[in-house]
Amino acid sequence: MKDLTITAIIKVYQYDELSIDDQKLIKTAMEATARSYAPYSHFSVGAVALLNDGTIVSGTNQENAAYPSGLCAERTTLFYANSQYPDQPVKTLAIAAKTEKDFIQIPIPPCGACRQVILETEKRYGQPIRILLYGKQSIYEVNSICDLLPLSFDSSAMEE
Ligand code: THU
Repeated sequence: MKDLTITAIIKVYQYDELSIDDQKLIKTAMEATARSYAPYSHFSVGAVALLNDGTIVSGTNQENAAYPSGLCAERTTLFYANSQYPDQPVKTLAIAAKTEKDFIQIPIPPCGACRQVILETEKRYGQPIRILLYGKQSIYEVNSICDLLPLSFDSSAMEE
């Protein structure tokens, strides 16, 4: 028996330690939360995808009375970006979330289903996606979903 040790690198920033470009992406994700449709959870999530050519696409969580039919902001954004700009890899994904009162203190990491979709998007374009997660107290940065989804399943697992 041996241990398999997995390490994840998550950088933690204060907002004013970020580059101006990253601050702008986060502001755009924060602004996007206003377009969330969250009548059930009252939890508004905004996501912004920066594509390789500089295009910026944003999306929000969209809920449904049949709860599982709704979709998280991350997937809304990535699927929209990949539908509209199928030749443009996603470089960075920024996410912000708020309750009815205010933006959250500690960043929310993407749910498991979104992690899987982010992974597939990385694989599809052969390029890691840098992820910025906004919280009022701190901002987390990972250079690839692999830091949030270790031992992941992708199409290579189905090869011999
Ligand atoms: N949600 C997201 O949009 N992204 C996440 O990473 C976690 C959760 C949404 C789904 C649902 O509309 C609401 O937040 C509460 O779970």
